[in-house]
Amino acid sequence: MADKIRIGFVGAGGIARAHVDAFSKVTDAEIAAVTDVSKDAATALAEKTGAAVFDSARSLARDAGVDAIFILLPPFAHGEAERAALESGLPFFCEKPVGLDPGFLQEVAAEVEAKGLLTSVGYMNRYRSSVNRAKQILEADPAIMAFGGWWGGSPGSHPWWTDKSKSGGQFHEQATHTVDIVRYLFGEAVEVYAAAANGFNKDIPGYTMDDAATVTVRFANDGVANLMCSASSNAGGSLFLDVHSLNHNFHFTEWEHHVAIKSKGADPEVIHGEAGIFSIEDAAFIEAVRTGDRSGIRSTYGDGVKTSLVSLAANRSLETGKPVSL
Ligand SMILES: NC(=O)c1ccc[n+]([C@@H]2O[C@H](COP(=O)([O-])OP(=O)(O)OC[C@H]3O[C@@H](n4cnc5c(N)ncnc54)[C@H](O)[C@@H]3O)[C@@H](O)[C@H]2O)c1
Repeated sequence: MADKIRIGFVGAGGIARAHVDAFSKVTDAEIAAVTDVSKDAATALAEKTGAAVFDSARSLARDAGVDAIFILLPPFAHGEAERAALESGLPFFCEKPVGLDPGFLQEVAAEVEAKGLLTSVGYMNRYRSSVNRAKQILEADPAIMAFGGWWGGSPGSHPWWTDKSKSGGQFHEQATHTVDIVRYLFGEAVEVYAAAANGFNKDIPGYTMDDAATVTVRFANDGVANLMCSASSNAGGSLFLDVHSLNHNFHFTEWEHHVAIKSKGADPEVIHGEAGIFSIEDAAFIEAVRTGDRSGIRSTYGDGVKTSLVSLAANRSLETGKPVSL
């Protein structure tokens, strides 16, 4: 392996630019190759990083001489990149949510497992000390209930986000971070039941998302959660998560997931969310690629698939009007 870990980017859009910035603090890696269906996007990223441009994920995986691939694609665009990584035996980092098709996700997860491939998924909040402090406390005093999600204003027209057939909807695409933290703290979900509000946002071209959704989740540990999203709250957004156990309350706020912890019989605790969380997440993956030690990875591909299966089950519940077992 070269001095610097050579990375290939599949996808050169918004989150790819965030990872370029993050890599400025990961000094033992370089972005050596890029591909995107938009030549302009790939070229712009190449000019910024010095990466070579490739025509496809397959040619990048085969010919670029990279040590790992970053799959930075919208939910509908997954497929070829994962196949290319599997065929080439390359470790890969995949942005959340990992896709839309449960069959494909489970098939890739099984192949990753069979090949023992090193993977990571972009659930960056798992690297936060606030979330990990909560996890540590809840190991001894299990989580009972959670309530939280993402509220935002009415969106403008967007090439894929506002089209539920491409993004999976706001709960799957955005509130997935909250679903993932709750899975991290509670363990596996066993049943979801969803209800949605529709018809409030008007005249947004290509808009097929729900205006808001609320999802009840039951967990194998007998805990419950009510998780939600809104894309129709124009007087102000909110990102929050409240969790309680018998003797602790956790109140997470904002994108950084600052937490205020109340404990029965003890002083309250406040932990602020880290800046530069993408650098922390990327450095953990690069360290695992460099050393082979995977202990720093907080979300593997198989784990990321399980989070997606929860929100995809919520979408099935919206279609059928019935609870869905996982
Ligand atoms: N972890 C986070 O907090 C976070 C933040 C933002 C976005 N994301 C996730 O990152 C993913 C991408 O989001 P984005 O904001 O970068 O979207 P984007 O629309 O800004 O960029 C997507 C890029 O992918 C390219 N693309 C589409 N299909 C392709 C294909 N088959 N092969 C190669 N390139 C293809 C597009 O041309 C575009 O350049 C989404 O799943 C999103 O949820 C994660």
